Amino acid sequence: MSATETGAKASQPPASGPDGAAGAPVFSVHGLWKVFGPRADRVPGSSVADLPAEELRRRTGCTAAVRDVSFEVRQGEVFVVMGLSGSGKSTLVRCLTRLIEPTSGTLHIDGEDVLAMDKARLRELRRHRAAMVFQHFGLLPHRTVLDNVAYGLEIQGMGKAERRAKATEMVAKVGLTGLERRRPGQLSGGQQQRVGLARALAADPEVLLFDEPFSALDPLIRRDMQEEVIRLHHDEGRTMVFITHDLSEALRLGDRIALMRDGGIVQLGTPEEIVGSPADDYVRDFVRDVPREQVLTVRNALRAAEDGERDSGPTLAPDATIATAIEAVARSGGPARIMDGSRLLGVVDHQRLLAVVAGLRVKGAPA
Ligand SMILES: Nc1ncnc2c1ncn2[C@@H]1O[C@H](COP(=O)(O)OP(=O)(O)O)[C@@H](O)[C@H]1O
Ligand SMILES: [Mg+2]
Repeated sequence: MSATETGAKASQPPASGPDGAAGAPVFSVHGLWKVFGPRADRVPGSSVADLPAEELRRRTGCTAAVRDVSFEVRQGEVFVVMGLSGSGKSTLVRCLTRLIEPTSGTLHIDGEDVLAMDKARLRELRRHRAAMVFQHFGLLPHRTVLDNVAYGLEIQGMGKAERRAKATEMVAKVGLTGLERRRPGQLSGGQQQRVGLARALAADPEVLLFDEPFSALDPLIRRDMQEEVIRLHHDEGRTMVFITHDLSEALRLGDRIALMRDGGIVQLGTPEEIVGSPADDYVRDFVRDVPREQVLTVRNALRAAEDGERDSGPTLAPDATIATAIEAVARSGGPARIMDGSRLLGVVDHQRLLAVVAGLRVKGAPA
């Protein structure tokens, strides 16, 4: 997870990713709508477009599953789309590769107009550039693990020896070595999900799209898979769009989170921005129970160092969490110094740390 852009405004491009990635947009989405129902194309931009979902349905028979949504997915980030069931997450992610045809708006991948792609180009997009990992893994029951992983490569026309070698490598990458010859029915749910992940990775797509892939898994296995995704992201810097209705999953995985409600994005920002500065009462309510000290960073508690505080006390990076700082301060009995490399940004003390946990505004904390 990149912490380098913590505190940056959602609309600003990040200076640089953890490994120096430029953060150029992979997907650019502007004013996107998907309306289901009769004469759906008349809804966007019309006088009924802003009606509440229920009234829109009553008046037109239409459902606006995605309403005037704009965002960019930057290279190398984990972009999470979060929202309650029915808020439009699946529709939105399916629109990205036109598995669902958007009603209006614009949509680009690496600057190329997705809405102008012909069938062949779309197939290429879905196979090589933006591969989807589904909740129901879609494994072929009569094929072995290895052949399931190699399946996409087979369709691409890769030779048998080469695709088996590649598949073996992907199976190892998701921790399934030794199970290559099993069939999906002989695997646990978590293992099947890993096969699905390996299959998506085998095509070496630029972006991985996940639609609630872990929601059917037991909590412990789910945790395992989340760590797998974080590890993959870390090792490869692969761009990911990850859909979930689970707030803690979103906070754990997301570099940025788009929170959806009734088809629209109500807030787009880092976990820290969403938890620390909710855009409205809906978001505030949504994040009410989040342990703030585990999401907010010490930047929120900074004050200037006084004489005598500059040269002693524990040191922490600016993206350390409040929880980490509380431990450091409790152990040392004095303030912790916040260092950006060799530069002293300020200190945090117990009083300020407590104020942040309590949700009080801390005066003078630089952004
Ligand atoms: N094919 C469809 N026809 C009509 N309405 C649909 C269709 N697919 C989804 N919807 C509606 O669009 C809204 C968003 O659905 P969806 O994108 O599946 O939400 P989520 O993935 O967040 O649960 C819901 O009200 C759903 O009932
Ligand atoms: Mg869904």
